[in-house]
Amino acid sequence: MSAPAGADLLVRNIGRLLPMTGPPVESAALAIQNGLVSWYGPAADLPERHGDVSELDAEGACVVPGFVDAHTHLPWAGSRRRDLEERLAGVPYEAILARGGGIHSTVAATRAASFDELVALTTARARLMLANGTTTAEVKTGYGLTRDDELRLLDVVAAVAAGTALRVEPTYLGAHAVPPDRDRADYVAEVVATLPAAQARGARWCDAFCDRGAFTVGEARTVLAAARDAGLGTRLHADQLARIGATGLAAELGCASADHLDHLDAEGAQALAAAGVVAVLLPACTLTIGEPTWDAARHLRAAGATIALGTDCNPGTSWCESMPYVVQLACLAYGLPVAEAFRAATLGSAQALRRNDVGHLGVGARGDLAVLEAEHEADLVAHLGARPVRATVVGGVVTT
Ligand code: NIG
Ligand code: FE
Repeated sequence: MSAPAGADLLVRNIGRLLPMTGPPVESAALAIQNGLVSWYGPAADLPERHGDVSELDAEGACVVPGFVDAHTHLPWAGSRRRDLEERLAGVPYEAILARGGGIHSTVAATRAASFDELVALTTARARLMLANGTTTAEVKTGYGLTRDDELRLLDVVAAVAAGTALRVEPTYLGAHAVPPDRDRADYVAEVVATLPAAQARGARWCDAFCDRGAFTVGEARTVLAAARDAGLGTRLHADQLARIGATGLAAELGCASADHLDHLDAEGAQALAAAGVVAVLLPACTLTIGEPTWDAARHLRAAGATIALGTDCNPGTSWCESMPYVVQLACLAYGLPVAEAFRAATLGSAQALRRNDVGHLGVGARGDLAVLEAEHEADLVAHLGARPVRATVVGGVVTT
């Protein structure tokens, strides 16, 4: 179906509306015309309307812009349940990766799956994201790791975008891991050589996993500089497992975002803020990896950096399609104030994707919103393990 071109919808009886472009509005209404927000304000001021307009009754609930998930690794096959048991028994993530498990075991399962299987698996995840209020998501490849397998995953992403209402920002992540059977320099050269084809198959972004046990700063610079020259936007997995200089590289290259950042220090946060690189925090991954270092948000707030949030949805370190859960962790684990967490999950993530048409409900923005199962956004944060979202609207069309 792909994101609807645009419908008309009147959302009535909103208990509390968070437009993100201005202060919250109590007892509000919001109108969408041709898929774009055309009016919002106190319900008492709603202009007279003519003709048949579809209506959605929010029944007094809190309405927020559709969540923007700034970082996912959505297309994969197989399970990492064995890794989980090992990690619970004390084996570190990097040790599992180094012995050919982790990412490599997902690569094997993904290569073995048919195109249709991958589309079905990924579509199910996209639907779960929509049901949890996400209306725009960045989606990475990275479990193919040959030219053809990576390009096939971009085709999977395109098929999922065409078959669901989710707005998708595709990212080529050939530089996710060096396949064990490949020479490093040779593999980096292949990733660079694949960039034009990746762009032709729909990639808008290029990412690299720059960390201990993954790609070095020099290798990631080679990939991202070539991506930038080819006209792709750039983003970087940085400071997730160790501080090896990836944050400095993201600032040097002017990447749209630096992501993960579990080992970020004050200096790194200042470098990101000064360079206008959006910091994407992925607390469900931090929790799953089991070495929680929850200082990043504090450093970023002190530096005045723009913070975004994402699920990091992937089978190994963050099997999570839910932005409401990520918002809960951002508040309860990072200590972000509720208003800042919602802002990060909407406006901040839209900035990480360099989009100004989503992540807020200002007049002219996409008519994408989530009706929460709560009358106030702070209640969503407090209410753990419950269904968070009652209805999701994309382009004026109710999708769930
Ligand atoms: O974002 N950091 C690298 N990539 C993924 C993990 C991938 C995996 O373990 O399968 C992440 O955590
Ligand atoms: Fe990631």
